Amino acid sequence: MFFNTCPFFLSSYIFVMPKITYIEHNNKNHTIEVPNGLSVMEGAVQNNIKGIDADCGGSMACATCHVYVDKDWYGKLPKKEEGEEDMLDLAYEPNRYSRLSCQIMVSNELEGLIVRLPSKQT
Ligand code: FES
Repeated sequence: MFFNTCPFFLSSYIFVMPKITYIEHNNKNHTIEVPNGLSVMEGAVQNNIKGIDADCGGSMACATCHVYVDKDWYGKLPKKEEGEEDMLDLAYEPNRYSRLSCQIMVSNELEGLIVRLPSKQT
């Protein structure tokens, strides 16, 4: 089919970057275009968003990338792995919408994702 091979169609698809909104504890918003394949944590770190320390670099060993996923988005994300749940037990003030942002991989399906940052990361 023409649309599957047209270079203009492919280029517009490949370079789409989902917008992720990070809301700091003081309600300061940052809406960032994050490339597919990065994690939500990497999108924050690469754009100097305060509140995501990511001390372990994404190996699920620190919980300093903890975020609260917007309740309308929480159920749309892939389920947590067992190790993520265990690490969230060590996070600062986790709640039912808590996730480790290093475990959320950005894809087109996450266009418009909203995450809130805890008041501190330990
Ligand atoms: S960056 Fe350490 S658990 Fe996510």
